[in-house]
Amino acid sequence: MSMKNIVITGGAGFIGSHVVRLFVNKYPEYHIINLDKLTYAGNLANLKDIENAPNYEFVKMDICDFDAFYKLMQDKKVDGIIHLAAESHVDRSIKDPFTFARTNVMGTLSLLQAAKLYWESLPEKYEGKRFYHISTDEVYGALELTHPEGIEPPFTTTASSAEHHLAYGDKFFLETTKYNPHSPYSASKASSDHFVRAFHDTYGMPVVVTNCSNNYGPYQFPEKLIPLFINNIRHRMPLPVYGKGENVRDWLYVVDHARAIDLIFHKGKIADTYNIGGFNEWKNIDIIKVLINTVDRLLGRKEGEDMDLITYVTDRAGHDLRYAIDSSKLQRELGWEPSLQFEEGIEKTVRWYLDNQEWLDNVTSGDYQKYYDNMYKDR
Ligand code: NAD
Ligand code: DAU
Repeated sequence: MSMKNIVITGGAGFIGSHVVRLFVNKYPEYHIINLDKLTYAGNLANLKDIENAPNYEFVKMDICDFDAFYKLMQDKKVDGIIHLAAESHVDRSIKDPFTFARTNVMGTLSLLQAAKLYWESLPEKYEGKRFYHISTDEVYGALELTHPEGIEPPFTTTASSAEHHLAYGDKFFLETTKYNPHSPYSASKASSDHFVRAFHDTYGMPVVVTNCSNNYGPYQFPEKLIPLFINNIRHRMPLPVYGKGENVRDWLYVVDHARAIDLIFHKGKIADTYNIGGFNEWKNIDIIKVLINTVDRLLGRKEGEDMDLITYVTDRAGHDLRYAIDSSKLQRELGWEPSLQFEEGIEKTVRWYLDNQEWLDNVTSGDYQKYYDNMYKDR
């Protein structure tokens, strides 16, 4: 592939910042343009280590601004787009679905249309071009707990997916699973996925889509379970567990997602879809206990002494019971697999938040307290 000028949208966010870092460090011959509106979730401090790299540029822009993006495509001669910018938090989507439709649906459409007009104006048209859309496993809906012998998670195997299937039955999200989103967030992501595929089917745009499971790791905004709970345990604040804490998520270390994105951007088949996940299913309550034990140990407290912070609160509306990704296609066809076992990843993650208190303090100052009060006061 002869790509040179690559736009990464949402590069100041959690996953985007890991993707930008990987590309800037690994591909000095590329020009990486981080395009981000810097909403509450975007933070340039996530990229301090590479901000002066010669192959890196930041552009503050709203993906819904069609004219500005079309001009950028022309000015920078963009030949690759990795699209991560989105409103990403389910709880916020329940309170304010319009913002999710605007950014996730209209914003994605705006990028697609601008890319189409620019690429179709070139002599080589779509040759050597790529639009890579990052989506989520939540578009597939929710699974039951289906282990044939009634065994419950954690299922933390990273052994071959075939073994995993044999051991735990066949109820996973496959690339062919029918879309069945339940939250305004997942409905908006599903809609954007459909637009991306429609641009391939209708105009021949070279697109690729991936659907990934829950990410964890450094630089995640503390509205999401893992950083929020680490921060609360550190400050000995209540841990608001939705419902009975029995919902299951499949957790992947964010750097492994970034590695998968790199591989698929370069080697993924045009118009194809790949699921990305860790074969690493945990009930929320079990993860929360791991977090308490780990934070306590690393802070020199007695391990488990903060268990009484666990506070069961009203469940999330429409709360999906279980997500579980089958990523065997990606393993089989492109040779990707997670590099970190969960135990190692979670230890690294807790250490990172404890060692980077300034980062956490900065993002939890200002409007964060208002958000927190608004989101949790009625639970
Ligand atoms: P995030 O909320 O941490 O970051 C989103 C970024 O997008 C922020 O930098 C924000 O400023 C930017 N942004 C938001 N609206 C914008 C707009 N209108 N114009 C330009 N920039 C805008 O999100 P994340 O967790 O890093 O997720 C990134 C992508 O990956 C999303 O598309 C999400 O749906 C998807 N995804 C996330 C997970 C996960 O576990 N976090 C899992 C699977 C897929
Ligand atoms: O599956 C991929 C998705 O994972 C991504 O597409 C989303 O962008 C990302 O936010 C994440 O969605 P979840 O809703 O699964 O993540 P969250 O961290 O918000 O919640 C994880 C689980 O923890 C979920 O079952 C709800 C529960 N939870 C969450 C919070 C914030 C609580 O019990 N208490 C809380 O305070």
